[in-house]
Amino acid sequence: MAVVKVRKLLAWVISFVMMTSSSYFGDAADDHNEALGASFVFGDSLVDAGNNNYLPTLSKANMRPNGIDFKASGGNPTGRYTNGRTIADIVGEELGQPHYAVPYLSPNSTGKAILYGVNYGSGGGGVMNATGRIFVNRLGMDVQVDYFNITRKQIDKLLGASKARDFLMKESIFSITIGANDFLNNYLLPVLSVGARITESPDAFVDDMINHLRDQLTRLYRLDARKFVIGNVGPIGCIPYQKTINQLNENECVELANKLAIQYNGRLKDLLAQLNENLPGATFVLANVYDLVLEVITNYDKYGFTTASRACCGNGGQFAGIIPCGPTSSMCQDRSKHVFWDPYHPSEAANLIIAKQLLDGDRKYISPMNLRRLRAL
Ligand SMILES: *[C@@H]1O[C@H](CO)[C@@H](O)[C@H](O)[C@H]1NC(C)=O
Ligand SMILES: *[C@@H]1O[C@H](CO)[C@@H](O)[C@H](O)[C@H]1NC(C)=O
Ligand SMILES: *[C@@H]1O[C@H](CO)[C@@H](O)[C@H](O)[C@H]1NC(C)=O
Repeated sequence: MAVVKVRKLLAWVISFVMMTSSSYFGDAADDHNEALGASFVFGDSLVDAGNNNYLPTLSKANMRPNGIDFKASGGNPTGRYTNGRTIADIVGEELGQPHYAVPYLSPNSTGKAILYGVNYGSGGGGVMNATGRIFVNRLGMDVQVDYFNITRKQIDKLLGASKARDFLMKESIFSITIGANDFLNNYLLPVLSVGARITESPDAFVDDMINHLRDQLTRLYRLDARKFVIGNVGPIGCIPYQKTINQLNENECVELANKLAIQYNGRLKDLLAQLNENLPGATFVLANVYDLVLEVITNYDKYGFTTASRACCGNGGQFAGIIPCGPTSSMCQDRSKHVFWDPYHPSEAANLIIAKQLLDGDRKYISPMNLRRLRAL
């Protein structure tokens, strides 16, 4: 039975890759077609499509071999923290966008291009403003919403107030992939959290995060966002970086990091239920990235991977999990066989499996409806 499942999955992945690589961009009309819709992408390095290229920051991915499998750039780095497409890229393609959402900070994010969506994601960013200080610069979620407020006015100018409102409420999906850095590059950092962990219990820190996120989502709602998908925090205790610095075995994960993620995720679920009730006309969909990624990590061989612990590109320790991916990194033989591209981020092969579940999966991983249904609302 397992073999049949894997075959089916592989067949799907192969047909999906062939389908998207051959037709994507190929016959896209230049003029904006409103039926295609837009995605406005908020978050961290899991979805950054190049914003950090324009920031003086220590968190950057616009260097080889990042992007080596990204067809639209001919394998050149774009600022994405993976070898190919991010989950947001894949979901955007599947929902019919003819172009990837442009990075807000890129010179291309002007004129009609923004009607296909804008990407505000930033490596190192978090819900909390202080998150990612270690990188010197990054766009936190508060700033990302400020930027959307600017985009919002540009859309008014392009479409007129009434059409703009309709476009945002009906044709646009707002995805938010954030929270991991609030733990990895804030609360769990021994030195830089200066006191956060001493003065704040996990409960209080998670409480703070949820309150900030509630404000951020409510601000987006006031700016006419209605269709939301919010990812919970993945099993951050299982990434090669955490496994390496904590000197774990192949199939172990760091308990504290995963415990914090689970705690936050429980509160996030309640928050979204609350917002679904309190904000008329809005739909908040929860993407259960934690369970989905843990399933892929636990049963990696069923999904065609040979390892879920070792980074494909990176150096240091047992799992190549200390030094980020760059020109001097060693790289694995077969990129499609690693769940993790680098010490922190999934490979495109893993992103394809995750995106497929978010698009078409059931309530175990995406609730109360999947993204295909959210789009059709
Ligand atoms: C911006 O547009 C130029 C010209 O159309 C293109 O070559 C370049 O790849 C675009 N950059 C991004 C980040 O999309
Ligand atoms: C958040 O940080 C930005 C700089 O990254 C700063 O401009 C802004 O004032 C800060 N916001 C709050 C609420 O502290
Ligand atoms: C958007 O920006 C305007 C100023 O241009 C401000 O008055 C308004 O409060 C902002 N809205 C949100 C939701 O941040």
